[in-house]
Amino acid sequence: MDRIAFKDGKIYTLDMKGGSPVYGEEIIEIEGKKFREWIPWRSKLAALIRRMGGHLPQLKGPVLYLGAAQGTTVTHISDLLPDSVIYAVEFSPTAYRKLASIARERGNIVPILEDAFHPEKYLPMVGRVNTLYQDVSQKDQVGMFIKNADMMLAGDGIGYLMLKARSVDVTSDPGKIFEEAASILGKKGWSVMEVVELDPFQKDHACLIICR
Ligand SMILES: C[S@@+](CC[C@H](N)C(=O)[O-])C[C@H]1O[C@@H](n2cnc3c(N)ncnc32)[C@H](O)[C@@H]1O
Repeated sequence: MDRIAFKDGKIYTLDMKGGSPVYGEEIIEIEGKKFREWIPWRSKLAALIRRMGGHLPQLKGPVLYLGAAQGTTVTHISDLLPDSVIYAVEFSPTAYRKLASIARERGNIVPILEDAFHPEKYLPMVGRVNTLYQDVSQKDQVGMFIKNADMMLAGDGIGYLMLKARSVDVTSDPGKIFEEAASILGKKGWSVMEVVELDPFQKDHACLIICR
């Protein structure tokens, strides 16, 4: 059975915990299995899937996830990749506490309390990954992505950079910021395959899908 389901315009993941909500999301049953609703207003990856017309982008473990917060999106990736490891980096101790507690219950999430601007600190633990996912609201989001990708993303791996235009520059047009980000990545040897704007689910955000 697929680990992702679409019903009445909503997205669901097959709950590896057998039907326990993590953040108040709806639980439904399909063919005797419990699925958790994946809300595009709460998760940029769910917004990406909605904006891509229900297409689930390639997600191959191990995954390095930067900006895990309390683990909302991480838990859905954990549902989709039960046999892979998701290294989840978060630098807020408050968010990390909830993330670490969720990780203990699931078994395929490794929480890391670190600043993602310093990937050398977790490189020895993480090694090579096939997917790099980043969702941090910082000015130099592109610089952070490049540092991590250069060290850990496999040659044929895929990166998902959830770019918040307003964190880069509140005054510039978001479209221009997305173009500039693609140009910086290009100069550092990374190709942007697609730029998917996440409005109306996530205002002034785009997902840049990146490969070598
Ligand atoms: C928009 S929230 C992430 C939401 C989460 N990705 C989700 O979908 O459930 C951004 C998170 O990035 C974290 N963050 C910001 N700067 C960071 C840094 N330098 N290193 C690690 N985490 C960072 C923040 O503490 C915050 O929890």
